[in-house]
Amino acid sequence: MSGFVLKSECLSFQAGGNRILKDISLRFRSGEIAAVIGPSGSGKSTLIKCLTTTYEPSGGRVTLNGQDLESQEAAYRGSLGYVPQDDIIHPELKVESTLHFAARLRMPPALSNEGIQSQVDAMIQTLGLEERRNLRVRQLSGGQRKRVNIGVELLADPTVLILDEPASGLDPGVEGDLLRFLRQFASSGKLILKTTHSMEYLDEVDQVVLLMDGYLIFSGLLDEMLAHFKIRHAAEVFKKIRSQEAERWQQHFDRAYPATRRLNAP
Ligand SMILES: Nc1ncnc2c1ncn2[C@@H]1O[C@H](COP(=O)(O)OP(=O)(O)O)[C@@H](O)[C@H]1O
Ligand SMILES: [Mg+2]
Repeated sequence: MSGFVLKSECLSFQAGGNRILKDISLRFRSGEIAAVIGPSGSGKSTLIKCLTTTYEPSGGRVTLNGQDLESQEAAYRGSLGYVPQDDIIHPELKVESTLHFAARLRMPPALSNEGIQSQVDAMIQTLGLEERRNLRVRQLSGGQRKRVNIGVELLADPTVLILDEPASGLDPGVEGDLLRFLRQFASSGKLILKTTHSMEYLDEVDQVVLLMDGYLIFSGLLDEMLAHFKIRHAAEVFKKIRSQEAERWQQHFDRAYPATRRLNAP
């Protein structure tokens, strides 16, 4: 699946009588890092669930290379990696054993022990954890633990890697390191999609997606977002958007950046 495009076209999602996502049209491309931001309850996690086939859209569609995701769900799921907000790894296991177990589970059953070990060694090196390989997960810093969680997913060689709030609970600065680390994977033709509360480092992502009350009120580069909302710093955006209703912002965005143009631009 090299050189792929993941799109949502007029995606909506409804639950309990509420429209949680409303006409969301987005395009993500292999090689890019996208950050989904928005106030709490704006629909970030729901959008992720629609993009991972966990939720079926109530309206519109999600496509991969122009074809409905539903028609290629099994293959697509196999190519997904998902790193939830909370740890999925055991605190008492050593770093190396954690990755070894993950590799056993995720790599072809026919792979020999030596084959697995060499993949684990390579992953430890990629993660920058050579000196920590014999430590227990609980002895690691938050950023190192996050990298082990990501490593567990990367062993399955996903083409799309999704991270929910990867920076929450991390020290300032670690988020930047994490982003640069993810950049390497994006450059090898993968798509990295993350949700985040943090307004830092948005200048280092290829696409900022801003949700408010289930509406897509902006997507594009950080500089474009600042110009669009007439603000100087990303940190001001949540305060700014409170000045009018989400639906108005959505209309404002659609006039400035029509969906048809955004989805089909070269
Ligand atoms: N299964 C569901 N049924 C009803 N309401 C839901 C469901 N899932 C989420 N919601 C509501 O949809 C809104 C968006 O939720 P969510 O996507 O989790 O937001 P975020 O991740 O941005 O905080 C919230 O108001 C939430 O209460
Ligand atoms: Mg959420």
